[in-house]
Amino acid sequence: MEEAAPGNGPFPTEDALAEFLERARTTLTANDVGDFVKPGRYQYPHQWNWDAALVAMGLSHFDEARARKEVRSLLRGQWLDGMIPHVVYHNGSSDYFPGPDFWEIEQSVAAPPGVHTSGLIQPPLLATCVRRMHRRAHDREASLDFIREVYPALLRWHRWLHRARDPEGTGLVAIVHPWESGTDNAARFVQALMQVTPSQVPAYQRRDSRHVSEEERPQHADYERFVYLIDRFRHWGYDPEIMYARSPFLVQDTLFNAVAYQAHEDLIALAEEIGEPTSEIERWRFRLRRAYNNKLWDDEEGLYFAYDARHHQAVRENGVATFMALYAGLADRAQAEVLVGAHLENPEEYAPDAHSRFRVPSQAKNNYFYEPRRYWRGPVWILINWMVMQGLERYGYRELAEQVRQDSLALMASAGFFEYYDPRDGTPAGASDFSWSAALALELVEPLPLAAAR
Ligand code: DGY
Repeated sequence: MEEAAPGNGPFPTEDALAEFLERARTTLTANDVGDFVKPGRYQYPHQWNWDAALVAMGLSHFDEARARKEVRSLLRGQWLDGMIPHVVYHNGSSDYFPGPDFWEIEQSVAAPPGVHTSGLIQPPLLATCVRRMHRRAHDREASLDFIREVYPALLRWHRWLHRARDPEGTGLVAIVHPWESGTDNAARFVQALMQVTPSQVPAYQRRDSRHVSEEERPQHADYERFVYLIDRFRHWGYDPEIMYARSPFLVQDTLFNAVAYQAHEDLIALAEEIGEPTSEIERWRFRLRRAYNNKLWDDEEGLYFAYDARHHQAVRENGVATFMALYAGLADRAQAEVLVGAHLENPEEYAPDAHSRFRVPSQAKNNYFYEPRRYWRGPVWILINWMVMQGLERYGYRELAEQVRQDSLALMASAGFFEYYDPRDGTPAGASDFSWSAALALELVEPLPLAAAR
């Protein structure tokens, strides 16, 4: 009998751990269709923006050249104005809705020639994952060349975020569609979304419950509005000025801005590697941090809330996005203590209790909209756990970070690499063979040491 692998609780032996890692790698390679790795075997057959960033990071554990190719593929979809879209359709249409034609991106003067993409964005994780790939790289020269190659595209992307989505200079980047948050049906979007009146919704056929149960997906009322908003944007030729000024949905999101803030830090580190100036990025960070704490922090509740910039009100829903301020280092010590002590460790909200075993539910369990199986309304997501874990480490909550890591590994070890998991008993839900879960399994087993924070 072999010794248990230290720190890898769910794996009784080194062999069990090795077999788990092999399954993670195989999930990624089996989803590899050449130009890109599908986020899920059946449910998501194209290349998604933040999935691709995580997939590249996962691939870099065992195939650095293939990891770099993943990033290059995503960048082929970059628009002429710098936007990196949320989906790139390298392989034409499929049984996924919306397909490439639905977007009509040719209405935009900025659409990339010869590539089919969506017209929305997703949280800008790419610079963060590229930096992690670089920190891990064995082939330092190839990695440095790669940074030199992709840095201009990353800088244009970050610049676009502030120019197109913060034309008023608030410091915070706005999203115009819940899909842009990456957490489509989270409770923090309900209030803003339900104020969108979906008149004249174009004909469409949902396809998302072909491979996943309807109870685990967003509801009809959400989809009506998702589609209605896209129809507005294509009608406006995806002009960023018009979208910002007129989109009936305009939210300054906690998760999106925290991801952007961390990505700015990582972009600065990449710039320093190759001797590029950083003052423009430092300015975005400074203003984002100030606005994030002035506008999104609610002192009474001790939580960060998203802000509905169209209706000028905070969205007071308690969801896991509130902890992204820890991930990005946006909270001060006192805020961190409240977030962790009063909320993350509270069994009525996020900590395990008699009915719920796994950390971290995506919605507080006592939130009105909590549904433990429905997409972003409650299930545990490995990406979110990974970010919460990093936040806890950053603020010195080592033991709790380790518990989140162990829970994440235990879920994947027993149920496989799924899109999400029921926090009550770990039942897998959503898409199977989910690439970012597999990528993050590799990352959770072989984490990088904390980078010096700014
Ligand atoms: C989906 O199809 O569920 C995606 O989240 C949209 O990008």
